[in-house]
Amino acid sequence: MKILIATEKPFAPEAVRQMKELVNQAGHELTLLEKYNDKSELINAINNTDAVIIRSDKITGEVLANSRQLKVIVRAGAGYDNVDLSAATDKNIVVMNTPGQNSNAVAELVLGMMVLMARNQYNGTAGTELKGKTIGIHAYGNVGKNVARIAKGFDMNVIAHDPFVSSEIVARDNVKDIEEAVDLYKQAQYVSLHIPANEHTIKSINYDLLKNMPQNAVLINTARKEVIDEEGLMQLMTERPDFKYISDIAPDKKDEFEQKFGNRVFFTPKKMGAQTAEANINAGVAAVNQIINFFEKGDVTFKVN
Ligand code: 3PG
Repeated sequence: MKILIATEKPFAPEAVRQMKELVNQAGHELTLLEKYNDKSELINAINNTDAVIIRSDKITGEVLANSRQLKVIVRAGAGYDNVDLSAATDKNIVVMNTPGQNSNAVAELVLGMMVLMARNQYNGTAGTELKGKTIGIHAYGNVGKNVARIAKGFDMNVIAHDPFVSSEIVARDNVKDIEEAVDLYKQAQYVSLHIPANEHTIKSINYDLLKNMPQNAVLINTARKEVIDEEGLMQLMTERPDFKYISDIAPDKKDEFEQKFGNRVFFTPKKMGAQTAEANINAGVAAVNQIINFFEKGDVTFKVN
């Protein structure tokens, strides 16, 4: 079978080496399309492959339109909002993700960016410490759990809200479960977002929710930019000079945020959460194994469509 790695933002070289070795050992053929500039390159490569491994690469109906032999798409990562699931299903293509494989990397970035902001982006002035402060984790999945573990190492008070995770599971980690989202925002100086982007969550982090955060609030977004209501956040930050925003994905209104709020915002130039060699190896190798098991045994564990 032909397996394509199509990554506009490439995996670390060691991840690619290990993925290639596994593909070859299983008797399949690997093609690499990295840092492509044009959608047509992706379309051409997809039209010629049985399986594709992607990251945040956009797999739209148009990209899949002429694919005849494609049977499986694996999103090496957690969020699959970049894949048109119904277009894939219509063409009998299985879509999978690799949950949990890059979550520690994202969680480490959350705490790293929190320290950056607490220390005024290392500009030489006196900042603050994380110790003793409260962090609210909005959605307690794989990344949220890792954020809790690391935040406890900083001696932070950790609370979480997730309507899909039981209080018992949250309590097992010695984290306080908060039933209503608004109460999480009321209690936490730091809120870290780990919700997916879908029809229920897009623009759900809005003025009415964020206004509840206490003084010196910091919102950390390593989820998706789409979950933020940018207008509402901008209004709140204008009204509240104490409010800070850190995001691993620059907002659509990046320039305006930076002009208006200067040192109170920080945006990575490209999504960096999963950009570690370890996360790339974990997610990339898992993706290859899932494809091999799909072809050899029809295994569809982690199918999302
Ligand atoms: C994910 O959903 O797994 C993360 O957002 C990482 O995305 P990336 O692979 O594009 O860096």
